[in-house]
Amino acid sequence: MDTYRCIVTKREIRTFTDRPVPEEILQQILNAGRMSGSSKNSQPWHFVVVRERGRLRELSGFGRFAQHVASAAAAVCVVLDSPRAFFDAGRCAQNMMLAAWNAGVASCPASMHRAEDARSFLGAPEGHVVATVISFGYPHPKGRGPIERAALRILAGRGRRPLASLASWERYAASRPTPTGI
Ligand SMILES: Cc1cc2nc3c(=O)[nH]c(=O)nc-3n(C[C@H](O)[C@H](O)[C@H](O)COP(=O)(O)O)c2cc1C
Repeated sequence: MDTYRCIVTKREIRTFTDRPVPEEILQQILNAGRMSGSSKNSQPWHFVVVRERGRLRELSGFGRFAQHVASAAAAVCVVLDSPRAFFDAGRCAQNMMLAAWNAGVASCPASMHRAEDARSFLGAPEGHVVATVISFGYPHPKGRGPIERAALRILAGRGRRPLASLASWERYAASRPTPTGI
């Protein structure tokens, strides 16, 4: 899959089969995160891979919309050593999700609303922050399950805003001159 196609076809999937993600694909996913750029190349992250079903279930309890983590084949928790590094974490998370998508593995991020509990559950040092937990797995052939449907009830109809409503040239929200200048 070419890069543009990988980016624009990526959708969040929250319903997974029991099929494990092969070790070499997981390594590739983690490596895509590792190679991400970061402010001053500080690489402020540590990745905790969780695969034990009981631990995945427990982890899912730390976010209000993290139920999908319980059924993931694996979750990658992006732990930051500084709460100021969220932009870096976003880049890193998206790189991992795109590498997975390219390999046929679906994913969805989950916010940890009980962030301190998630940090201590993972055994991360104090002062560190769990920026996101990403579920990975193979999409369920029956399509979207109850967790997905619940998410879609909230997100329904949002789609993506048209480009013309969110991009402008030279000045914020300046309208683009038409080719005829009218
Ligand atoms: C910062 C951030 C936090 C998110 N947190 C959650 C979450 O807690 N639970 C969840 O199911 N999806 C979460 N998402 C996924 C968004 O709901 C999703 O990216 C958005 O609805 C677009 O989905 P689509 O690409 O499938 O259209 C999060 C996304 C981002 C960028």
